[in-house]
Amino acid sequence: MITAATPSAQVQAAPYAARVGMAGAGQLARMTFQAAADLDVRMQVLAGTADDAAVRAGAPYRLGPPDDLAALRTIARSADVLTLDHEHVPIQVLERLVADGHVVRPGPRAVRLAADKLHARRDLQAAGFPVPRFAEVHDVAGVAALAERTGWPVVVKARGGGYDGRGVHVVRDVHEAAAVLAAGGAWLAEEHVDLGSEVSVLLARRPGGETAVYPLAETTQVDGICRELTLPALLDPQLELDARELGIAIAEHAGVCGVAAIELFVTTGGGLLVGELAVRPHNSGHATIEACRTSQFHNHLRGILDWPLGDPGLRVPAAAMVNVLGAGDGRTTSRLPRALAVPGAAVHLYGKAERAGRKLGHVTATGPDPQAALQIARAAASELQGA
Ligand SMILES: Nc1ncnc2c1ncn2[C@@H]1O[C@H](COP(=O)(O)OP(=O)(O)O)[C@@H](O)[C@H]1O
Ligand SMILES: [Mg+2]
Repeated sequence: MITAATPSAQVQAAPYAARVGMAGAGQLARMTFQAAADLDVRMQVLAGTADDAAVRAGAPYRLGPPDDLAALRTIARSADVLTLDHEHVPIQVLERLVADGHVVRPGPRAVRLAADKLHARRDLQAAGFPVPRFAEVHDVAGVAALAERTGWPVVVKARGGGYDGRGVHVVRDVHEAAAVLAAGGAWLAEEHVDLGSEVSVLLARRPGGETAVYPLAETTQVDGICRELTLPALLDPQLELDARELGIAIAEHAGVCGVAAIELFVTTGGGLLVGELAVRPHNSGHATIEACRTSQFHNHLRGILDWPLGDPGLRVPAAAMVNVLGAGDGRTTSRLPRALAVPGAAVHLYGKAERAGRKLGHVTATGPDPQAALQIARAAASELQGA
């Protein structure tokens, strides 16, 4: 007797629309994973621990540090494209993966511009982009020599490994410079720019060069860490145009693929200088989830997969985002209902263990103008921070 196979045995699992691997499993990977679910993209992440933000949200993962070539190879083998949620994968490891025939987007050249601040300053200056006056420094004499040209204070920066202002030090004299350099490592020093404001040019780019540019965002940093942002930035129209053009030109020069953010300093004199470059979804783009027609996370996937990019335009008049930093009392997430009670606040928590000052989430609000949105986002963030 011939028995028919049960219907379920005949049903084949649908193929995924695409498969992406991501090095890193923090909040950027977590939010990219949410977008991946929308598009039926299978996404696997390289996680430092099983508690990482993207893993908590359900992303398939392998455990390993950012320089784990074997783990990255395994992820890359089962992915169409390998991408990044941070810039801490060593360039040689990325180059190795490319040499093995894997598609790595963004590529090593773009990542190096984001990972090595001294290389970025040199490369962008040589290409004619406006950067602050800077010098590689090995000792206090080097910092003092730069200060002779620029005056004090001077900004001493770690070449790599820093984020959220870690690795960025404003020093007022040789004694403060000595205290910073005593930590060891590779440093550069640059002039302390008189900042009128800081803006971020967020964009997404396909391998062939098609680019979608988001409206400029104005960011506010406290102690080097982004605290809040308003969208759109209210700049003089010519300055806005110049900033956009500068961002696009740098992204082209870097050969960016996927989302990139070009942080720009607007000087008190109204000039533009390059702050730094990030070649992945960026904190300055979180508000695009609620405020724009296509979020940065969707457009990152679309860019790296060489799919048509989505409209980056605003779908509301204005928006604001406030980062939620750990209050240090371990009760940030238990205050969630209080934040949710603020009308109009879109609260995002990353599932990260609390440490004072650590980014645990963000709040976005939209409104008729940036300041109105900012009041709402601030109110909800304050509730979470117990302020
Ligand atoms: N040369 C500078 N002059 C004035 N402020 C600076 C300078 N460089 C950095 N900063 C301030 O420090 C912040 C963090 O610097 P950045 O290089 O972006 O480091 P990170 O990688 O930690 O974000 C900037 O957003 C800006 O507010
Ligand atoms: Mg920065």
